[in-house]
Amino acid sequence: MFSTLKPLPTDPILGLMAAYKQDTNPNKIDLGVGVYKDEQGNTPVLKAVKKAEAFRLENETTKSYIGLAGNLDFCQKMESLLLGEHRALLANRVRTAQTPGGTGALRVAAEFIKRCNTNATVWVTTPTWANHISLFEAAGLTVKEYPYYDYENKGLLFDEMIKTLKQVPKGDVVLLHACCHNPSGMDLNEAQWKVVAELAKDVGFTPLVDIAYQGFGSSLDEDAKGLRLLADTVEEMLICSSCSKNFGLYRERIGACSLISNDSTTADVSNSVLLSVVRSIYSMPPAHGADIVNTILSSSELTQLWHDELDEMRSRINGLRTLIKSSLAEKGVAQDFSFIDQQNGMFSFLGINKEQIDRLQKEYAIYIVGSSRVNVAGVSQTNIDYFSNAIADVLK
Ligand code: LMR
Repeated sequence: MFSTLKPLPTDPILGLMAAYKQDTNPNKIDLGVGVYKDEQGNTPVLKAVKKAEAFRLENETTKSYIGLAGNLDFCQKMESLLLGEHRALLANRVRTAQTPGGTGALRVAAEFIKRCNTNATVWVTTPTWANHISLFEAAGLTVKEYPYYDYENKGLLFDEMIKTLKQVPKGDVVLLHACCHNPSGMDLNEAQWKVVAELAKDVGFTPLVDIAYQGFGSSLDEDAKGLRLLADTVEEMLICSSCSKNFGLYRERIGACSLISNDSTTADVSNSVLLSVVRSIYSMPPAHGADIVNTILSSSELTQLWHDELDEMRSRINGLRTLIKSSLAEKGVAQDFSFIDQQNGMFSFLGINKEQIDRLQKEYAIYIVGSSRVNVAGVSQTNIDYFSNAIADVLK
């Protein structure tokens, strides 16, 4: 049976991560996979996480199953983190399942959408995180794209986006990135979120918000503003969240899939379907990550420590954006890279071509995704000169 299989190409992001690991060049720089790095190039375990883990080691009393929805305290805390004190929560219209990472949340959402409307199309931004498309297609859903990033002007194609979304059939799903758009770093502003929310209501599509970088853009609340505006306006929506980046819990695989329904009874029915989806994929989520997040968010001291650490990660990334812009200008690079300083989160497109990306990898051991997406957090005070000289050279 296996002999009928044809080899598939490696994932563009994870393949790059493996190639970087094998490279022996002491000057190598990893600007590929989206993980936060400190000045030394490490992805440290947050202090708040270490403390929560120490607490868990002492206080964990069982390894028995935790149930389909996972840790219910964690689920409730995630709802507050995402929605604040939104009236949908007060009206008991929100249900959440803890999932294995944000990717697990998206896969659960995909299967849930399929159960709601087997013919639904999921509309994603052009471009989007490459795995979005495979995830939805793997659940048997059709995926279509709507205009989003303006490669030429390094901004948004907002008018084109709205024009396409107006044509989306009722019953389809539109995926939106809450903040720190992956891969472009270009986000909607508040006025634009309002337009999209009104459109969702008028046209009748269901928004699915992917929020994988809450706290990496402006602040925890600011980054959830668009999502909350949608929840103000539409009766039903889905939210896929991740604790990989903001809690630095990448390998613990901790995220959540939340649904907002028009009333509490429908929320219960929808939840039964959501949990049946979970049961049919992985039965129950792992406990560790949720317990860590719940412990942090249950303690005002650990929450404060986490906020401080999150603020530090965000300021470092924003500082690096300014540094990249000024360093490239100092090296005499003719192209204007000021857009890097105006975009959000870990990613931006450098806007360089395939040949230049290949040269960066071969001649300088600088690893960038083939789309020219860079993880800004991979730059540091130590490697900025090397990085800027390399860019200046390949752009000559
Ligand atoms: C990324 O976009 O680099 C991250 O979300 C990691 C991944 O799984 O692709």
